Amino acid sequence: MARSNITSQMLTDHVKRIGDEHPAIPMDSVDFTVKNPELVRDRFGVMFDYLARVELEVERNVKELDTILPGAPAVDVAFYRHVWHDQEIQHGRILDRLKAELGLPPAQPLTEVSGPVKLLGALARVPAIQDVARCVYYFTGASTERQAVLAYSALMDRLDELGETALLTTVIHPIKRQEPGHFAFYQMSATKIVGELRPWQLYLARQLRTRTYELVGTHRDPKYQAQMGMVSDVLGFGHDPVEYAREIGRLEARLLWANSQGMEFPPYVLAAIEESRRLASEGLATAA
Ligand SMILES: [Fe+2]
Ligand SMILES: [Fe+2]
Repeated sequence: MARSNITSQMLTDHVKRIGDEHPAIPMDSVDFTVKNPELVRDRFGVMFDYLARVELEVERNVKELDTILPGAPAVDVAFYRHVWHDQEIQHGRILDRLKAELGLPPAQPLTEVSGPVKLLGALARVPAIQDVARCVYYFTGASTERQAVLAYSALMDRLDELGETALLTTVIHPIKRQEPGHFAFYQMSATKIVGELRPWQLYLARQLRTRTYELVGTHRDPKYQAQMGMVSDVLGFGHDPVEYAREIGRLEARLLWANSQGMEFPPYVLAAIEESRRLASEGLATAA
């Protein structure tokens, strides 16, 4: 794989810029006025619960990254422990407060680092393995952030249709504006590392992605997978899972799989989407 023209300095500059331009959203800048609370609660309750939980799980994500990247480059640490963490945790707090305003119970984020992550952390003490773990982390991050942008964009359209202007302009839009900078960090980082890894490391990264891919916040738990499937109609992929797979898998298909045999997205992306839809239709989801 050819070396990319992404440098460590470009990554450092990017992290500094998004930290400077996007401080955590102040709670007192938010207007929680809802015109039709019953309708918003009925239509978006599950969605807000999912989004609040996933955003609040940044605490767990940081612990996981500390575990699997014990020797991470300074720019990764500056990003995930500070810039990214501070922005995401505030997204979660704002969405959780919105849930409370709507009379919904607080989100229940998972906080514990899972067993497989601890195992990967042990293996990642070997530097060549840690580079593979870092590669997987960047692709996980890129997929996650694409999912976030698509979710918030779709939600903005729905809130606009309902005339819920305060929620649209002071909750969802300010949150959505902070997500593309995260995606860009992962995209640049993935581009850089794919150009640096040896063939066996890329092979291992592809194997790990194939075996461990999951939609954000689903944790290989049918309950959470079904919740994700339930929000899919709001997200707009209910009618076209293939297009959604293309949106969230395009970068990975290009960088990690070199669009092999015309691949537009890795097959495991569509499989995860379809599994979440199947579980939702089986009614396994727990209501928010
Ligand atoms: Fe976020
Ligand atoms: Fe994000």
